[in-house]
Amino acid sequence: MQLKEFKKTKLSEKDLEKYQATLNEFYKKKTLHNDQLFIAKNKLLNEEITKDTFKQMKAKNTEIAKEFTASLKSTMFKDNLKNATKVVENINAESPEYLEANNELTEAKRLYEEFQLIVKEKGRSAKVVKFNNLAIEVENLHFRYNPEFPLVLKNVNFTINHGEYIAIIGHNGSGKSTLSKILIGVLTAEKGIIKLFGNVLNSQNIAQIRQFLGIVFQNPDNQFIGSTVRADIAFGLENKRIEPKEMPGIIQQAAEKVHMEEFLDHEPLNLSGGQKQRVAIASALALNPDILIFDEATSMLDPKGKREVKEIMVNLRNQRDKTILSITHDMDEILNADKVLVMNNGELVRYGTPQEVINDEGFLESIHLGVPFIAEVENELIKAGIKLNKTNSMDDLVKQLWKK
Ligand SMILES: Nc1ncnc2c1ncn2[C@@H]1O[C@H](COP(=O)(O)OP(=O)(O)OP(=O)(O)O)[C@@H](O)[C@H]1O
Ligand SMILES: [Mg+2]
Repeated sequence: MQLKEFKKTKLSEKDLEKYQATLNEFYKKKTLHNDQLFIAKNKLLNEEITKDTFKQMKAKNTEIAKEFTASLKSTMFKDNLKNATKVVENINAESPEYLEANNELTEAKRLYEEFQLIVKEKGRSAKVVKFNNLAIEVENLHFRYNPEFPLVLKNVNFTINHGEYIAIIGHNGSGKSTLSKILIGVLTAEKGIIKLFGNVLNSQNIAQIRQFLGIVFQNPDNQFIGSTVRADIAFGLENKRIEPKEMPGIIQQAAEKVHMEEFLDHEPLNLSGGQKQRVAIASALALNPDILIFDEATSMLDPKGKREVKEIMVNLRNQRDKTILSITHDMDEILNADKVLVMNNGELVRYGTPQEVINDEGFLESIHLGVPFIAEVENELIKAGIKLNKTNSMDDLVKQLWKK
């Protein structure tokens, strides 16, 4: 092949982008069909569809998988490289076009190498689409740790709108942490469907869907990986292959959100519990998840630490751009929530506003939970014959009492 001819047919960066876009589209199509197949599997278990319908869906899936595999085997970039090699082989080193031909070969090589990376990645870099504004939908969720053990979650159903702050409460062992582990994909449901922004969670897409989620655990000492606060926040970013030049800005912003920007070069060891949890929150925020789960993030902190972390959580709620799930034993915290999800013995027994849950006389006691301090005070005052309107706010209560 001659240089002139090659230049007419050669592939460019644009072709590479097009190829990547095609793979991404395929990947999305494949995951969407996997979602549907996953739902169908559940329906089959519940005998809502026939085996034949399921088989047909499965066949369709196989077809899509075949097309996908075929597009992964494209030879265009290899052919392009072969042609460029031939051009260089055929050209005389004295020729004025020699340098240009060599440059073409270098470019063809680069394109081929990038193509190989794209193939390896199989379109997974495709951004997960948000199909709706429902951060979490849980349907008919069942779970047990072992086939011989009893169910730890029994037919749990709920929906959370994006931007809501949900407190999850329940007695020890009621299944709260298990639920959060299923949501982040550490545990797999035995039966049931979980959707995040309309994407059905399954073993194929969990890595991608996790982009939506961040979690902060209970123990401030078990969450550190880095030797400084900065390194710790950077760790997650490196895992997500964020451009190194963007990192300092992201780290700074995340640290500012939890008021830890002055501690970026400190060693985690020397921080207080509350500060450590704030760094854990910053590390989660740096990845910009839409949903944040706090699994008793304040329970191991002293009163000051608790206050600090709760304040951050309330700030996050007020911005309304994140969905927050807070698993807590702190009954005062539920007053910050839009809704309270109450678990008891593996079942969701109540899902309503804090007022609805607190004002339901005897309900919290019946499942061995206390009531928030303010509700306790109000109940005692009412018992003592003082007439007042129940309120969530201590200020409000004090005002009412002053008027008397
Ligand atoms: N790894 C495990 N293997 C077997 N059973 C487990 C495991 N983890 C939890 N369980 C059981 O599952 C049930 C629910 O536990 P889970 O940790 O979800 O409760 P929880 O509501 O988070 O409790 P707590 O308030 O104490 O944190 C409990 O009966 C518990 O004993
Ligand atoms: Mg727990």
